[in-house]
Amino acid sequence: RDVASRDRNPGQGGETHQHPDDGGPRLTTAQGVPVADNQNTLTAGPRGPALLEDFHFREKIFHFDHERIPERVVHARGYGAHGYFETTDAIPDLTAAHLFGAVGRRVPVFTRFSTVAGSKGSPDLARDVRGFAVKFYTEEGNWDLVGNNIPVFFVQDAMKFPDLIHAAKPEPDRGFPQAQTAHDNFWDFISLMPEAMHMIMWTMSDRAIPRSFRFMEGFGVHTFRMINADGNSSYVKFHWKPKAGLQSVLWDEAVKINGADPDFHRRDLWDAIGSGDFPEWDLGVQVFDDAFADAFGFDVLDSTKLIPEEDCPVRIIGRMVLDRRVDNMFAETEQVAFCTQNVVPGIGFTNDPLLQGRNFSYLDTQIKRLGGPNFTHIPINAPRCPMHHFQQDGHMAMHNPKGRANYEPNGWAQGGPRADPKAGYRHFAQPVEGESRKLRPESFADHYSQARQFYVSQTKIEQGHIADALIFELSKVETLAIRERMVAHLPHIDADLARTVGDGLGFDAVSTPHDPAVTPVMDLPS
Ligand code: HEM
Repeated sequence: RDVASRDRNPGQGGETHQHPDDGGPRLTTAQGVPVADNQNTLTAGPRGPALLEDFHFREKIFHFDHERIPERVVHARGYGAHGYFETTDAIPDLTAAHLFGAVGRRVPVFTRFSTVAGSKGSPDLARDVRGFAVKFYTEEGNWDLVGNNIPVFFVQDAMKFPDLIHAAKPEPDRGFPQAQTAHDNFWDFISLMPEAMHMIMWTMSDRAIPRSFRFMEGFGVHTFRMINADGNSSYVKFHWKPKAGLQSVLWDEAVKINGADPDFHRRDLWDAIGSGDFPEWDLGVQVFDDAFADAFGFDVLDSTKLIPEEDCPVRIIGRMVLDRRVDNMFAETEQVAFCTQNVVPGIGFTNDPLLQGRNFSYLDTQIKRLGGPNFTHIPINAPRCPMHHFQQDGHMAMHNPKGRANYEPNGWAQGGPRADPKAGYRHFAQPVEGESRKLRPESFADHYSQARQFYVSQTKIEQGHIADALIFELSKVETLAIRERMVAHLPHIDADLARTVGDGLGFDAVSTPHDPAVTPVMDLPS
């Protein structure tokens, strides 16, 4: 039999299409073996079957077959960039975090912006919340501020998160819509969740169709803690304020842009950084204590509420500049793993039930998404400070402990790393009391006041956009009862808004209830 590893393309003899020898790198297999022919499979004879012996072909195809990893279960579509964060106002009185200890301290950051509901291939201008996740590579380890461009959230308790996302994603039988909220399942769920009304006002507003990532605010959403060197804690809300200002597009523009250039936002960031027009944000904090928190009628542990900036001004403490594009979208933007539980000494958690659920969720999902427990060894996720621990083995282990000691305590002279009671992370010693229960506290009960506050804070034009968005979205809902149930929430927020949306949907009347606890009555179109 004639076994030949030769070019089988007619008329091209045995030559391969290699570049001329220009001093560039030589093509090899993943094992480093130089490749002679990257065009043809090894075959038995000129028109014969392919041979298993062709290790180059086998390796190339096997690797290609395994290129995909699961897309993120939410925030699948995202775009990232590198940059730095610099402290401009030191706050050592508030936090022991080294980063915030002195003006001028600088650390590298990686930031990923995203939409929430759409798949990896969905268009950029969907009406949706935008993720705003920042990884700070500090001297004391990685701190992730995993926020959104809207300061509040749809649900109060992480228990509801899977339901929210199931309802927002494509409907399971038909597999659409891909990238927008306008469908029955979403509005069915939302209309049954009064706690979502504040966030719904934001998502129906211009905030949910930003002009680009560069014109968006960012928010840590939850109340976090800052803990100083004496162990004293303050509550803190984190804010990113874009130096370029806040800008959105109109819905009609969004629809056109999605058709003409579904990559509009990622192209904008890529082009801006490439042309030296580096986007910049201020980092601000709202800092308050228990007495201040107790003075509100709502609970600061409730993520559907914000702390009004008039009551607690945002203090700017630093700035972030994004000045470097990624080298490789998959290696960096896709493989980056943010987690709310990645904190550094001086930053801590509160009992916000949404935050506590998130603290569990991110690590859990990333073990699956990134194929095992060693994803911190991937360069984009690895800390850039010294790192020593006794974790070992597992798939893709790159940093196994060196030497004999892989446990602690040990009596060996070169026994490896030891815990540091002075500089190590200390959890805030929070007093805890009460019986275990499965019941939302009373302090989480008001779902409309801040929705109303947000709506009335908008200009007339912006209010018109909210009404238009509600009419457009709800007009896509096929089930009349869902439209009715949703519109029935609106009189609790604003009578004019309720009337306008009711009119827009062809309802005869939407009554305004005297008692907000009473569900308003509404006439359906005949
Ligand atoms: C991903 C923000 C609530 C689970 C993300 C990302 C952001 C984000 C920005 C994308 C991170 C990236 O770019 O890689 C938020 C905010 C929330 C919230 C601001 C509420 C205030 C929740 C809750 C859960 C959750 C309640 C679950 C209990 C997830 C998961 C991912 C994710 C599983 C995918 C992570 C990955 O695959 O790497 N979230 N989220 N999120 N979030 Fe949230």
